[in-house]
Amino acid sequence: MPSLLHIDASIRHDGSVSRELSAYFAAQWRENHPDGGYVYRDLGAEPVPHITHAVREALLDPSGEHGETPEERALSEAVTAEVREATTLIIGAPMYNYTIPSTLKAWVDRLVTPAHMVAPGGEPGLLSGKSVVVVTARGGSYAPGTPREGWDYQEPYLRAVLGAIGLADDLTFVHAELTLAAIVPQMAALKPLAEKSRDTAFETLKTLAV
Ligand SMILES: Cc1cc2nc3c(=O)[nH]c(=O)nc-3n(C[C@H](O)[C@H](O)[C@H](O)COP(=O)(O)O)c2cc1C
Repeated sequence: MPSLLHIDASIRHDGSVSRELSAYFAAQWRENHPDGGYVYRDLGAEPVPHITHAVREALLDPSGEHGETPEERALSEAVTAEVREATTLIIGAPMYNYTIPSTLKAWVDRLVTPAHMVAPGGEPGLLSGKSVVVVTARGGSYAPGTPREGWDYQEPYLRAVLGAIGLADDLTFVHAELTLAAIVPQMAALKPLAEKSRDTAFETLKTLAV
C-alpha cells in the first residue's frame, strides 16, 4: 500500500514557506492516494533529541545492551519504522545558516545505521526504491550566477547522506528561494523573483505528488 511520511522542520508555524509547500504536496498526494497511509512528524515542534553515545551504540548494535533508556530505544525504533514503512517521503527543510536545521540532522542521525547503509553502485538496501521529495525554503538565492552560488550546504549534504542510506534512488529537490524578500526592505526589488520561485515550487510539487 502506498504510504506518505511527511516531515517538517521549520521552527516557526505562521508564515513558514517550507511548511506551506510540504503541506500542499501532502494534500495533493493524499488526494491522489485516498486509501494510502499517512504519517506526520513535526521536528520543529517536537524535536528528536540529539543522539547520545548510548543511543548511537544501540543504533550500531540493536541486539545488545548499551545503557540507553527504553524511551530512547522506542524513539529510534519509531523514527526507523516510519521511514521503512513509507513509500514516499516529503521533507520540508528550511535553510538555517546555509544548511539544514539541526533538528533534521538529529533525525538523520537516527537513520544512518549499518542496516540502512548502501555502497555506491552496490546492492539495494532496506530503504532503497522510495520516492523522496525535499522542499526547501531559503531567505536568499543560491542559483547559478548569484553571489552566493556555492554556499548551499543543504542540497549537497542531503544528497550525500540520503544516498548513503538508499534514499536517493528517486530524490527530487524543490527550492523556494528569496523568502526574506517579503519582509526585508533591502530585498524589496527581489519580491517578483521570490513569488516566481514560490509559484514554480507549487507547480513542481503538484507534478511530483503522484
Ligand atoms: C536561524 C535561521 C538561520 C537562517 N539562515 C539562513 C541562511 O543561511 N541562508 C538563507 O538564505 N536564509 C536563512 N534564513 C532564512 C530562512 O531560510 C527563511 O526565512 C526560510 O523561509 C525559512 O523557512 P520557513 O519559511 O519554512 O520557516 C535563516 C533563518 C533562520 C531562522
